[in-house]
Amino acid sequence: MVLLEEKLERVKDSEEKKEIKIGIVGAGYVGLVTSIGLAYKGFKVLVFEKNKEKLNLLKKGIAPFYEPDLQKFLLNSLNSGNLEFVDEISQLVKSCKHIYICVGTPIKEDQTYDMSFLDAAAKEIANHLPSNEQKIIIIKSTVPPGTAKWFKKIIYRYRRGKKTNIEIASIPEFLREGNAIYDFFNPNRIIIGVDNKSIIDDLTQIYHDFPAPILIVSTTEAELIKLASNCFLSTKISFINSISDICEKLGCDIENVRTGIGLDNRIGLDFLKPGIGFGGSCLPKDLEAIISLFKEKQVDPILFEAVKKINNDRITLLMNKIKKALWNIKGKIITIWGISFKAGTDDIRESPTLKLIPHLLNEGAYLVLYDPKATHNFKNQFPQYSINPNIKITEDIYESTVNSNLIVITNDWEEYKKADFFKIYELMETPIIIDGRNIINYPEILEYGFEYYRIGVSYEST
Ligand SMILES: NC(=O)c1ccc[n+]([C@@H]2O[C@H](COP(=O)([O-])OP(=O)(O)OC[C@H]3O[C@@H](n4cnc5c(N)ncnc54)[C@H](O)[C@@H]3O)[C@@H](O)[C@H]2O)c1
Repeated sequence: MVLLEEKLERVKDSEEKKEIKIGIVGAGYVGLVTSIGLAYKGFKVLVFEKNKEKLNLLKKGIAPFYEPDLQKFLLNSLNSGNLEFVDEISQLVKSCKHIYICVGTPIKEDQTYDMSFLDAAAKEIANHLPSNEQKIIIIKSTVPPGTAKWFKKIIYRYRRGKKTNIEIASIPEFLREGNAIYDFFNPNRIIIGVDNKSIIDDLTQIYHDFPAPILIVSTTEAELIKLASNCFLSTKISFINSISDICEKLGCDIENVRTGIGLDNRIGLDFLKPGIGFGGSCLPKDLEAIISLFKEKQVDPILFEAVKKINNDRITLLMNKIKKALWNIKGKIITIWGISFKAGTDDIRESPTLKLIPHLLNEGAYLVLYDPKATHNFKNQFPQYSINPNIKITEDIYESTVNSNLIVITNDWEEYKKADFFKIYELMETPIIIDGRNIINYPEILEYGFEYYRIGVSYEST
């Protein structure tokens, strides 16, 4: 392990840096933010995205998903001439020495990663590799430990004996959706996984001026660091959710308890917020993947199985709160504020709201859904809900509350806090709020006359 404190000495001058052409395969949350960020830093970046609809939007300078400041940075990078979206992967494989792989690794039914996108990318790259130049392929996708070694083997296979000069690095991505641009420029650390130290200089040319320590490890260690980091965050969330459950029984307020715990520097307040469970495209799948990895290697995954169970049980607990608050759900209008898995994004992958909806429909509720950014994605991905007469989707927070019997808050947009609760009180039939993210100002909300229930506080004490 090398903590690269002398990294600046290794770096060639910045003019030379600007000559580096970087190729990016896959323009999703990770690939697009990486492309825009590197272009903004002055590198020439070529991006290949296989989804033609997405590619065409990007060529026109339109961000295909919501992320704060993404649109602005996209236009800026395109106008600077540093960013180009290409139609063929061959264009970037031929002209870029560094090729980043940013394709998805969703979880399969057997709870292991689907590696088919990486496999396809390996094949396409292998088909176009020039035999006389070295290429450095950098895996940014989150993958099972050992993938970089596999990836190299697979490329050689697809090359079928043709002369090949490649090295593989693993530089996992730690950005958070909703803060992705900020996180790109301000990472806590940069993990560079290499099995051949000769490419360290090539990689630090790209990363030397980021305000973060660089840690050089093996590719497998880098892959495990990413997986384990995400599982640690999941563990923290399930931990505080467990503590919030006992708070409800003891008549304690989780907000006081979590602050008391988190002010310890060794623990910290980040990811120590109770709620209705974690979702998104990363934490649930990486948890499944680590459980599968432990089982495959015959190491007891008991810790991670508990984290998963606690998370899965959150929706049942929320349903119990809803039943207790409403007494009868059938025929009631329930407003859900929150479709994306958290604030700051329109990403609805593994959002807790998606788990809640079928439970409420089964109980005979009418649902009105509101989210500041994610209604469009929801309609596209769940057309069956768009035509369901028991579901209404609205772009107006106040319209979502008309004649409502209950507002359930499932994600943590700041906008909810700023709503006119005096008006909402008047619009609702029975003004009750269940705050699944403890985001609304308490006790002020009680002054409007609402019945208000939070997570981690006994009903009797609110
Ligand atoms: N989203 C996050 O917050 C985040 C954070 C850290 C790490 N990761 C990891 O990064 C990886 C990518 O995540 P994402 O959220 O950006 O996924 P995504 O699904 O948003 O993006 C992947 C993109 O790759 C494209 N693609 C797939 N195969 C391709 C190919 N052969 N050639 C060109 N394009 C191809 C897809 O069309 C898609 O646009 C995953 O492994 C994920 O676990 C994600």
